[in-house]
Amino acid sequence: MITIRLRRNGPYVIESDEATVVDWEGVAYPIDRRPIALCRCGASSTKPFCDGTHRKIEFDGGSEAQK
Ligand code: FES
Repeated sequence: MITIRLRRNGPYVIESDEATVVDWEGVAYPIDRRPIALCRCGASSTKPFCDGTHRKIEFDGGSEAQK
């Protein structure tokens, strides 16, 4: 099972050693570190990956999942 975890006010984190990220044509991005953090705030300069900019812009990621 692959888990995609939302960091509070931060990126989507893919918790898998086998996951790949591909573009709209199916071409894989090189993955140089894991877990993979995907930008959720829209402000990263390295999209689709998180570059930490969410902290600078004080991104509000919304609420947690309902239990
Ligand atoms: S979530 Fe980190 S830069 Fe967007």
